[in-house]
Amino acid sequence: MARAITVRVADVVHETADAHTLVLDPDPAEAERFAYAAGQFLTVHVPTDRPGGAARCYSLCSSPALGEPLMITVKRTAGGYASNWICDNVVPGSTIEVLRPSGTFTPRAWDGRFLLFAAGSGITPVMSILKTLLHSGTGTALLVYANRDANSVIFADELASLARTFGDRFAVVHWLESVQGLPARGPLALLASGFAGASAWVCGPEPFMDVVSEALAAAGMAREKVHHERFLSLDNDPFAVDVELVADATQAAASVEVTLDGATTTVAWPAGNHLLDVLLAAGLDAPFSCREGQCSACACKLLAGEVTLDHNEVLEQEDLDDGYILACQAIAQTPQVRVTYDE
Ligand SMILES: Cc1cc2nc3c(=O)[nH]c(=O)nc-3n(C[C@H](O)[C@H](O)[C@H](O)COP(=O)(O)OP(=O)(O)OC[C@H]3O[C@@H](n4cnc5c(N)ncnc54)[C@H](O)[C@@H]3O)c2cc1C
Ligand code: FES
Repeated sequence: MARAITVRVADVVHETADAHTLVLDPDPAEAERFAYAAGQFLTVHVPTDRPGGAARCYSLCSSPALGEPLMITVKRTAGGYASNWICDNVVPGSTIEVLRPSGTFTPRAWDGRFLLFAAGSGITPVMSILKTLLHSGTGTALLVYANRDANSVIFADELASLARTFGDRFAVVHWLESVQGLPARGPLALLASGFAGASAWVCGPEPFMDVVSEALAAAGMAREKVHHERFLSLDNDPFAVDVELVADATQAAASVEVTLDGATTTVAWPAGNHLLDVLLAAGLDAPFSCREGQCSACACKLLAGEVTLDHNEVLEQEDLDDGYILACQAIAQTPQVRVTYDE
């Protein structure tokens, strides 16, 4: 069972007609469990009678470098359950249940050139990355931000203020569908030209991500420099997971040394089980969300030994090259494995 954290909502800011920012006020005793990197997300539990429960991921739009309160921004999805429930029901003073921050859409260095592409609510992790870069890094950024019309631009004032304050390091290009039509490959490639050595961070609806990927390829940007965050809804409920280890007599068992929240523990890894299940069964507070290889909440770094991943829809080649694995999909291939969640 995931260790849910109850957190008070200190304020609700109506950013646009259909996007609400929840300003969160964790109990100081839980503060350590809310340590996060720019670009990471929380998993929020949403009450429902539906079988399977409802849990949804929301990126933190606050920056860990600024000492700001934790903030997530939820945009209503037409016909969507959780986003509308949150926007209709969560008010200042409400409490919500969340899982600790996680995810790999996080730059590892804050120098160099950043090309940021966001559409609609996809601005949330990009905003966290941008503020962190400008306030605590040395890099420069161009943000291309696509929206339906001027009224649907989330964080419009904050972005204008950042562009004024950091005019020599940051510029924003607003792409409004009402004026320019849907974002198209040619003009996007033109904006990206000259950025071949930059890293690109892309978040928005699937068609937007597709056209941006095509534009970046046309502009000559190497595939491994492009990072994507996909906004999917979770199918299962990570708040109600019970772990049962399987007994697989056909494979040799292993053991794993895991570093998590500053503590190192060695745990027996029965054959045929995924690393995440092994850690949860041992009572460790390992992070996770989808358990389907789609969200990267469970990502940790492999320091020794070998594993295979049953499924991976989220780690990019650069992450894998850096040693990141998905605990929810990892099966041991060597008798000794060492991993850390603290790097
Ligand atoms: C890492 C990550 C970060 C995210 N960050 C943010 C964020 O910062 N802000 C944000 O607003 N969102 C974010 N999301 C997206 C968010 O988690 C939800 O997916 C989003 O709010 C929609 O959820 P919902 O319950 O309202 O919609 P859902 O009920 O999941 O519906 C989504 C869509 O599917 C359709 N649908 C639902 N059920 C069916 C069905 N049975 N058959 C056919 N169609 C169906 C709905 O009509 C709707 O169009 C993030 C997602 C991820 C994975
Ligand atoms: S929990 Fe989502 S990828 Fe592992």
